[in-house]
Amino acid sequence: MIELDDLILRRFDREADLSELHQVIEESREHLRPWMSWVDEHSLERTAAFLERREEAWAAGRDFTCAIVLNGAMVGACQLFRREGGPVDVLEIGYWLHPAATGRGVATRAARALVGQAFRFPGVDHVEISHDPANLASGAVAARLGFTEHGRRRTETGGEDLVWRLTRRQADPGGREDERTG
Ligand SMILES: CC(C)(COP(=O)(O)OP(=O)(O)OC[C@H]1O[C@@H](n2cnc3c(N)ncnc32)[C@H](O)[C@@H]1OP(=O)(O)O)[C@@H](O)C(=O)NCCC(=O)NCCS
Repeated sequence: MIELDDLILRRFDREADLSELHQVIEESREHLRPWMSWVDEHSLERTAAFLERREEAWAAGRDFTCAIVLNGAMVGACQLFRREGGPVDVLEIGYWLHPAATGRGVATRAARALVGQAFRFPGVDHVEISHDPANLASGAVAARLGFTEHGRRRTETGGEDLVWRLTRRQADPGGREDERTG
């Protein structure tokens, strides 16, 4: 669990969070639809299956998905994960918010905290954020955190994502690695 004053990032509880997460997604459907195709299939059963998979993936160390809780209310989710078949020195970050929680820096603060967590894994050299190039709000989060545009990646659906990258050195230019060697 990460506590940042009014903001908490915490692991989902498969049973206790089912109803609230379902409701938050339900209320966010129109806002998420352009960028997250899974909302078209949204249902209580799908949300339950999502929470079950997250629990397994967390246990396997592949995916750390957290509820974003603002002043006690769930307002979205963020995810630190390793892409399936991806290189071991890269972790990725994803996020979404209820529309009422946007415009206040919540996603930026959550993603910043996940960057910090990512670089606690010693083998991680860089963190990536990828999104539809038209998703300017998502890119703005990456830019605010000092990520730079790295390139494009083909998506499973045949489209193309814009990939942003932040290296360990960019995140911590005067880091411990430099102190040891410098
Ligand atoms: C992507 C998404 C999470 C970004 O939300 P957001 O509200 O723009 O991002 P933040 O929560 O970081 O808030 C940033 C805004 O708050 C403002 N802000 C206020 N206080 C701030 C602070 N302390 N730190 C950063 N920004 C702050 C910023 O100026 C910015 O406002 P602006 O958009 O008018 O410039 C949101 O648009 C979303 O849920 N989209 C749908 C799902 C999605 O696309 N997810 C990403 C898929 S790759």
